[in-house]
Amino acid sequence: MTDIARLKTDYPWIETPLIVGAPMRLIALADLATEISRAGGIGFIGAGTDVSNLASHLQAAQQLLQNQNTTLPTREGMLPIGVGFINWGVALSETIPIIERYRPAAAWFFAPSSIASLMEWTEKSRNASPETKIWVQIGSVREAVDALNARPDVLVVQGTDAGGHGLVQGASIVSLVPEVDDAVRGIARAAGFEAPVILAAGGIVEGRSAAAALALGASGVVLGTRFLAAKEANIAKGYQDEVVRVNDGGQTTVRTKVYDDLRGTTGWAQTHNARGIINRSFKDALKGLDEAENKRLYEQDMRKGDAGWGAEARMTTYAGAGVGLVRAIAGAGPIVRDVRSQAVKVLEKFTRAAASGKL
Ligand SMILES: Cc1cc2nc3c(=O)[nH]c(=O)nc-3n(C[C@H](O)[C@H](O)[C@H](O)COP(=O)(O)O)c2cc1C
Repeated sequence: MTDIARLKTDYPWIETPLIVGAPMRLIALADLATEISRAGGIGFIGAGTDVSNLASHLQAAQQLLQNQNTTLPTREGMLPIGVGFINWGVALSETIPIIERYRPAAAWFFAPSSIASLMEWTEKSRNASPETKIWVQIGSVREAVDALNARPDVLVVQGTDAGGHGLVQGASIVSLVPEVDDAVRGIARAAGFEAPVILAAGGIVEGRSAAAALALGASGVVLGTRFLAAKEANIAKGYQDEVVRVNDGGQTTVRTKVYDDLRGTTGWAQTHNARGIINRSFKDALKGLDEAENKRLYEQDMRKGDAGWGAEARMTTYAGAGVGLVRAIAGAGPIVRDVRSQAVKVLEKFTRAAASGKL
């Protein structure tokens, strides 16, 4: 079976090329996830490091899907959305009963404390809900090869342009996706198991980048930053306005640990930092402002509501290097359909050019 056929079998409601909404912690909740799936993509709820409200988010998603007139075709009554976890920060024992009860189509694992832990999560999740597919987000060839021990169904290959957390040291999807693809296929073939489906993440916001990711060898794409500007995102207006306003993401965003430090988000390994829009907090940290004072100023801005976000303000604004291509707030459904159809148009253009010797 081809990878596209596998995707269509496992997630029967999707249309291809596949557009996935990243499980952005506490921003991607039921409204966003269900809207993305309804448009033929796969929406994820971002549980992140906190599963205390996850059951209610999943219940809300069930309800939203029931209220809508169209029933999405699923396998064996699975919930046609996924759930994403930041594994080092979540208690496995609290999570498994939720997976068992709500049976999401996919469980997305990211940043486990060890491969042994990833294998335990995978095994227990599969025991609790055998039809829930296991997705693992990785950021290097080494991580991809190590993750094969858990036999994931999908590998999300995260390039360094990605918004939010990822490896401090990395490469863009341009080199990472084909090298991961070659490595995992080689190992799977030699060992006689089916290689995971590969999806690309990091810097993909529209049709051209989605088409490029498919050309690199991905079977679909994951978008985070673009969905920060979705009407259904659970995000403050000040944050969302920044995502739409900012251009030239290579210059206006940065990978850093400063924002985690200021917010007191401890627990991330030294290997990980996060990409966000450069603001006053970062500039002051760079100039050597004392961390305690920077924190105090941060907390002051937290009380300003939407005015707490902006180039001269301080609130953390995680977003990827593709932020300059996010130009308007739109519904998640139209975003999914636009990116999908634009990607096909780009690929058709090149196919026609190749056929007539004009490439
Ligand atoms: C605001 C934000 C929050 C994120 N939270 C998570 C998360 O909780 N878990 C996770 O696996 N990835 C998270 N990510 C990373 C995404 O999974 C994905 O790799 C990234 O958004 C892709 O790059 P893009 O933002 O350029 O589309 C987050 C990304 C953003 C922008």
